[in-house]
Amino acid sequence: MRVGYFQTHPEFGEVQRNLEQVASRLGSVECELLVLPEFAFTGYQFVNQEEVIELSERVPDGPTTQACIELARQHRMHVVVGLPERAGEQCYNSAIVVGPSGFLGCYRKTHLFCEETLFFSPGDSGFRVWDIGRARIGVMICFDWYYPEAARTLALQGAEIVCHPSNLVLPHCPDAMVTRCLENRIFSITANRIGQEARGGKPPLTFIGKSEVVSPTGHILSRASTDAPEFTVVAIDLDEARNKSINPYNELLKDRRPGYYFS
Ligand code: ACM
Repeated sequence: MRVGYFQTHPEFGEVQRNLEQVASRLGSVECELLVLPEFAFTGYQFVNQEEVIELSERVPDGPTTQACIELARQHRMHVVVGLPERAGEQCYNSAIVVGPSGFLGCYRKTHLFCEETLFFSPGDSGFRVWDIGRARIGVMICFDWYYPEAARTLALQGAEIVCHPSNLVLPHCPDAMVTRCLENRIFSITANRIGQEARGGKPPLTFIGKSEVVSPTGHILSRASTDAPEFTVVAIDLDEARNKSINPYNELLKDRRPGYYFS
């Protein structure tokens, strides 16, 4: 299966332009599953609630979801991408899953990071897994990586690939995902962004790039640079994620001892 990430450099608030930049680079590259960053088309550093409300969209009726469905149809691929979602009076930090057949679903970020807690409601979707035909995919967003329970919950539901839209500012995640993949025998696709935002007099945020695809045996199949946009596709063998046998005596998930774990 051919999967990829698009490491972007969005300009805050320029949703249409940011979307067009991605669309124009997809070309005829064969990619069955593409992951894009958290807040891929809006930018990240909101300065007040009004801005959040202005840039948040209904899912699936809003223009960003509809544009992504169109991209998925044109390129016959599945796309996972982050966006600010408006639902009733609430705004969520969400990621949509779309494919050639249309809208598949939405995940709302469970563990909000830093000032996201001022502007967004904690996600209430729970961790979800979608069958996209070739693979079962789960979604978590950026800081969710800090909680091993996120990837584990997706693996226990049968996720073979964890799609991980991100706007990373701390340095640890790209290396930590090696452990997330090893301890669950899953693939991960982390799509991060690059660049800096320093809006409304706030301290600047520098996004670390290093988008990556990691294998169930902890190999980094591809890792992007820290400072350039990049669209990369790699071939993966899903059998690696389906075989949970570590050796003849150890079966990764079956050997868990949940009775001894605190919840
Ligand atoms: C993050 O969760 N955007 C660091």
